[in-house]
Amino acid sequence: MSDVNANDLMSLCKRRGFIWPSFEIYGGVAGMYDYGPLGCSLRNNIVDVWRSIYKGREGFVEIDSETVNPREVFKASGHVDEFADLITYCKQCQAPFRADHLVKDFYENADVLTAKQLEEAFVEHGIKCPECGGELGPVEEFNLMFKTQIGPGSARVGYLRPETAQGIFVNFPNLYRYNREKMPLGVIQTGRSYRNEIAPRQGMIRMREFNQMEVELFVDPEDKDWPRFHEIENETLDLIPNTTCEPVTMTVKEAVEKGVIANRVLAYFVYTTKQLLTRVGIDPARLRFREHLQDEMAHYAADCWDAEVLLSYGWTEIVGIADRGCWDLSRHAEFSGADLTHFKRFDEPREMEVEKIRAKHKALGPTFKGKAKAIAAAMESLDPSAVRDGKLTVSVDGEDIELTDEYFEVAKVTEKVAGERVIPHVIEPSHGLDRIFYSVLEHAYSHDEKEDYTVLRLAPAVAPIKVGVFPLMEKDGLDDMARDIYAKVHSHRVEAYYDGSGTIGKRYARMDEVGTPWCITVDYDSLPGGAAEGTVTIRDRDTTEQKRIPVDRVAEIVDDLLAGKPFAEL
Ligand code: GLY
Repeated sequence: MSDVNANDLMSLCKRRGFIWPSFEIYGGVAGMYDYGPLGCSLRNNIVDVWRSIYKGREGFVEIDSETVNPREVFKASGHVDEFADLITYCKQCQAPFRADHLVKDFYENADVLTAKQLEEAFVEHGIKCPECGGELGPVEEFNLMFKTQIGPGSARVGYLRPETAQGIFVNFPNLYRYNREKMPLGVIQTGRSYRNEIAPRQGMIRMREFNQMEVELFVDPEDKDWPRFHEIENETLDLIPNTTCEPVTMTVKEAVEKGVIANRVLAYFVYTTKQLLTRVGIDPARLRFREHLQDEMAHYAADCWDAEVLLSYGWTEIVGIADRGCWDLSRHAEFSGADLTHFKRFDEPREMEVEKIRAKHKALGPTFKGKAKAIAAAMESLDPSAVRDGKLTVSVDGEDIELTDEYFEVAKVTEKVAGERVIPHVIEPSHGLDRIFYSVLEHAYSHDEKEDYTVLRLAPAVAPIKVGVFPLMEKDGLDDMARDIYAKVHSHRVEAYYDGSGTIGKRYARMDEVGTPWCITVDYDSLPGGAAEGTVTIRDRDTTEQKRIPVDRVAEIVDDLLAGKPFAEL
């Protein structure tokens, strides 16, 4: 466990405007938080680093899809039938409980137990209602999606999305066209998702309305490689494979060659996740990747690794990196009837046995007379996947005509083909943004008990305020000069904070507590005729070292520091 006190950190977050429990004036709602001004900036900065990697470096595209989806989407995805936790109610006081939480002290992985096993565990371990000591009722499924209606009356059933991913899958035809029908196709989306958790707990770790940054990479099922793999193949990962369940450190290349990670593209994005997390300030010594146990994998996953960080709550999942195989597109193709395939062109045309629709002219002629020829041509232009329940529908002269297999057959023929249609596989790094946000804060938090002094050592890239700007005294022109510096430095990308009140020590402390990496102070030496005319001091948060720099280079120096120039080299 880490030695950060989560209550102290949450109280700092609340006091300084990072995070506020939602609807506090009405008593609050469990598992819901609002982001305050500093929290919003920190969160947006984390999103920017994520975008810079996926959109900037890897060339993925970004979309923004609806949060309310019709039922069909989640029927196809499996969420309507499968996305449930097991619940039990106290027979006496009716309090609801997540059943696995009640027996978590007795099992390593209580969340994989079935309803029956949980009921047996209650008896075996004498579990009673934690509220009133009453008898617990049967264990049943509780679907975690928030249900709603789209439109008034007996309109369509809808759900608030439990993951942003589906918005990307259902837009596959649009995205595929946008990408000029090429694979791989990388898409990112950030936004809110909703899960009606039975027992939200651990602050921001399990929220009912939460933020995701999801990445869906569509790949050729036979080409699970990545062009940049060689750039990172010798980097190391701390892994816990599901075969041994023991921690092991190995290079990315070794992990693939030994079959620990299923393929190169999955391994590349496991490493990309490490890059992202360390860049936003996660301590690499408190980061590991754990492979899901076979019975823990989501219904869609072919292989899945969790990025786990060590927090005051113990090891906690903050990112899941899954090979979802062809699950998503196959299911949406099956339920919607849409073509969600990729046409994979061969290097050279190949002789292949293919299925074709052949019209039965002898049957068509007598029934359809003059239209028979046009119907036959329309049928033969369709792909056999257009046959549904043994029937085909064609459109001829504006009329839809349904044909049974009396009028056509699906025949196997050998011909030279330029390519074949395949259902792309999906590699998905799915980031819990609020969890990353909270983990960044815990890993940055340091409190000196003796001095009662708190510093948030946030990475400059994500720190909400980049520079504090202070006049030593708010008079004698020091304040005018400081305000002028503030105006030159402050922008929506480089947030500056002017502070003229209290002792200079208190002002440094206020900035240290919210993670501001540098503070600039205008003193009497800075003024015209002063001993160091035209210069100001800049202080480094982590070393508290101070240097004098020319006032007319402040903005440029802050830019250099943000780009990674060491303070010592100023
Ligand atoms: N898309 C995966 C998840 O939300 O967990």
